[in-house]
Amino acid sequence: MTLESTPVPCRRQIPEAGPSRVVFNRKVGPGWLLLRLEEPAIARAAAPGSFVEVLCAVPGSYDPLLRRPFSVYDADPAAGTYDLLYIATGRGTRWMAALPELPELPEEGGSPPAHADVIGPFGNRFTPPPAGATALLVGGGVGVAPLYFFARELCASRERPAQVILCMGARAADQLQGIEEFRKLPIRSEVSTDDGSAGFHGLVTGLLEHLLDRDLKGGDPRRITIYGCGPTAMNESLRRVAIERKLWCEICVEARMACGFGICFACVVPIQKSLGGAYYNRRICLEGPVFDARLLKPGLGEHE
Ligand SMILES: Cc1cc2nc3c(=O)[nH]c(=O)nc-3n(C[C@H](O)[C@H](O)[C@H](O)COP(=O)(O)OP(=O)(O)OC[C@H]3O[C@@H](n4cnc5c(N)ncnc54)[C@H](O)[C@@H]3O)c2cc1C
Ligand code: FES
Repeated sequence: MTLESTPVPCRRQIPEAGPSRVVFNRKVGPGWLLLRLEEPAIARAAAPGSFVEVLCAVPGSYDPLLRRPFSVYDADPAAGTYDLLYIATGRGTRWMAALPELPELPEEGGSPPAHADVIGPFGNRFTPPPAGATALLVGGGVGVAPLYFFARELCASRERPAQVILCMGARAADQLQGIEEFRKLPIRSEVSTDDGSAGFHGLVTGLLEHLLDRDLKGGDPRRITIYGCGPTAMNESLRRVAIERKLWCEICVEARMACGFGICFACVVPIQKSLGGAYYNRRICLEGPVFDARLLKPGLGEHE
């Protein structure tokens, strides 16, 4: 891993769209749902950072036309299943929320099990940290989805980092969605809330800086790696922290997408090829969504 390197771009062929069977679709928090789907090829190919595109319409209907992207929250290649953690915010996600909660296997003459039309996985992945490193996972909102997959992978890896620390931020304690799942893993989990109702009182990047200044003070910066996924403002703060402290940092950027596989250029983000160089537009869906934070443009290209 060098300062100038960027995560490996995705050069895979566009996978075929196909039906993924709904195993369950559970409410796990206010407005939050966990959808488990079965499709062995996706479960095998998914990696932390990669995402799938869901057609949020009944098969054969293309209204809405555009698929919705979702990070893979977890995958079980042995069972052929993968999970999506999502918030029902709009038309597409409300359609997903209406998928059956626990579809029964069809009895003879009964209705068939529910399926979702899914294509993927797309995108690159988080780069595993070097041996002996401290991996800091910083997330907020639905950004926790790829971080949970990554945390599980790091815990199962034979080349585990020296320590994995989760920093999860939310507005208030009741919005720390998924924290219980992280707490089941052999990692250190820290939380922050904007209103001080749990953990560190302040932004999650404030919590990160607090840990860097206190617990990780004096550590070799080459042995500290940061991985982030969250709202643009959080990602922008992470970018600044990484540059100021000269730390390795990768961000999984979640932006509005249209085609989802590199054709329309609706999802570009300006990024340098190397530090101090010119900015080039990179497609988040094809060359991301994981990028070296220090090479991203200040503001992450928002409002350009
Ligand atoms: C790579 C990637 C991974 C993602 N992973 C997840 C995930 O794991 N879980 C999850 O819940 N969502 C995730 N999203 C966001 C998800 O795609 C949007 O929430 C979804 O497209 C909304 O569709 P909708 O039809 O329900 O909402 P719409 O009716 O299209 O929009 C409803 C509201 O959601 C906002 N919105 C729509 N798309 C996005 C987006 N891409 N980013 C931020 N806000 C958006 C709109 O501005 C609007 O306010 C991801 C997006 C990307 C690009
Ligand atoms: S969404 Fe079309 S190029 Fe990325």
